[in-house]
Amino acid sequence: MCGIVGYIGSRQASSICFAGLRRLEYRGYDSAGIAVIKDGELTVRKVIGNLNNMEDSLENKPLEGAIGIGHTRWATHGKPSVENSHPHLSCDGKIAVVHNGIIENYQELRKQLTEEGHAFKSQTDTETVAHLVEKYYNGDLREALIKAVKDLHGAFAIGCICSDSPSELLAVRRFSPLVVGIGETENYIASDMGAIRAETDKVYVIDDDEICKITSAGIEITDLDSNPLTREPYEIPWPADAAQKGGYKKFMLKEIHEQPDAIHACLAGRLSAADKPITFENIGLTEDDIKGFKKVIFTACGTAMHAGHVGRFVMDKVAKIPAESDLAAELQQRDPVVLENTLCIVVSQSGETADTLEALRAMKKKGAKVISVINVVDSSIARESDGVAYIQAGPEISVASTKAFTLQVVTIQLLALYFAEVRQSCDTAELTRLKAAILKTPDDIKKILDREDDIIEVAKKFYKMPNALYLARGINLPSAMEGSLKLKEISYIHAEAYSAGEMKHGPIALVCPEIFIVAVVCQGPTYDEMIGNIMEIKARSGPVIAISYDGDEKIPLTGADPDADPSDIAGGPNEMIYVPRTEEYVSPITIGVPLQLLAYHIADLRGEDIDQPRNLAKTVTVK
Ligand code: F6R
Repeated sequence: MCGIVGYIGSRQASSICFAGLRRLEYRGYDSAGIAVIKDGELTVRKVIGNLNNMEDSLENKPLEGAIGIGHTRWATHGKPSVENSHPHLSCDGKIAVVHNGIIENYQELRKQLTEEGHAFKSQTDTETVAHLVEKYYNGDLREALIKAVKDLHGAFAIGCICSDSPSELLAVRRFSPLVVGIGETENYIASDMGAIRAETDKVYVIDDDEICKITSAGIEITDLDSNPLTREPYEIPWPADAAQKGGYKKFMLKEIHEQPDAIHACLAGRLSAADKPITFENIGLTEDDIKGFKKVIFTACGTAMHAGHVGRFVMDKVAKIPAESDLAAELQQRDPVVLENTLCIVVSQSGETADTLEALRAMKKKGAKVISVINVVDSSIARESDGVAYIQAGPEISVASTKAFTLQVVTIQLLALYFAEVRQSCDTAELTRLKAAILKTPDDIKKILDREDDIIEVAKKFYKMPNALYLARGINLPSAMEGSLKLKEISYIHAEAYSAGEMKHGPIALVCPEIFIVAVVCQGPTYDEMIGNIMEIKARSGPVIAISYDGDEKIPLTGADPDADPSDIAGGPNEMIYVPRTEEYVSPITIGVPLQLLAYHIADLRGEDIDQPRNLAKTVTVK
């Protein structure tokens, strides 16, 4: 789970690789390295820690050369250390390799190569690749890399340079993402288009078992039998500055604020007016498929799973298809019976999450039709699905997902309503109401963002507390789960989410003045029960932040004195966060936003490194 980048041209490769690595930092940041070639000499620089250390190192001692490869690492084999950081070198120091993925048979290869006289310096799986290429190198780097990857089992995107072949950059992939950026007199490689978007808007998306020989003048793509392949360039649809912070303190905050525009982009071409039908292109399903589905299973990991849980409610209620949702890792273990006419909807921002990809493959094998709800275009999950509904969120850099979650929920809601239209499973008036509510969500979210200062004031009152409990019922239980995940990821406050209906069955034992409770109380069928839960918490001196609709008169703010004994505040919550009123089934789209802002500002007040939370990586491409 790392990021790779490479450059060949006439500029300083280290600067371009470094800039690319900066944009890939979300893929891992426990160490980084760059290798360049100048005057037939290969030089490597490696640093531990995040890329600021690499920046300092390059400033102190520039690395010169017009061809180079770089890597930002998230350790899988071997602890973060200089020896284990990429690029890894051959024994003679002439061949350098960067790799994203996992070489499954590295131990046996390492044993064999050691017996053949190769000396290993690291504990990584990647170093075997450098030695294998060295073993096969006979003046033709492409041939040597082809032979090497034929020996590999596992997943990889590899960049490779050799000081004896200083005018070519090689790249190859199997099951790990790889693009080649197209320039005029220079070219690039990267594990993610965002890494090189500032340099070019045209890339070739490379497929499994394809190898690319890249010079400053051209790009040759072949299969592993050296058959030439032709490829249409893919035009990156995001503007060059989309991956920059745009004036916000953190990417996470920027991405929270991008949500109204992102929803507009997601709705474009799909839902234009409440009285018009929804259209979906390329989702790989015929109307007969949709009419025939007897079951829908949502699967994903983490935040994306919370969006899938919302999907379970809407598919069931609106499209009238029995629906379930199960974590990708659990779904594989559970090995469920899949009957005919089952649809599996796979949700993933990156489209590369290992568990999600495996769950997809398992469900396909069992005969389910699989469509995916994805952000990253042409990612592995997208390509292996029968159809894709892209969420159109643009690049999400912050490790903690915000806009992708919101857009996943929007896309899933649209899918459910589209299914309902095709199946005629929902009365027209209700469909029109739901569509109108979805169309209104960008404005609703803008209103919530305008109230950010109020949320900061709430955050100031609770940020020092060590524990939090998020409560909700029904379709907003996934919102509470997502809110608590956001808080724990970026603030390191211990936070749990529970169905408020479960309170008396255990969690109420936790209630005390030291744990703050976030209660989602929007009006709907669960409203009175949620108020009952708040009363019970208040009676036990628990401080409560309630999220409710504008104009809620039943549970107004009854006290906001941070020094007051919470038990003195009769009945009502300590703090209210209001959101615009909407339809119950659409509410998870907007309810998520104040929860994101609350988590962000609590973490900010605690001084945490919000965009790079400890131990987390943006894309989890290993199980
Ligand atoms: C949390 C977060 C993760 C991801 C999960 C799945 O903020 O981002 O929980 O949602 O790792 O990732 P994708 O959506 O890329 O499959």
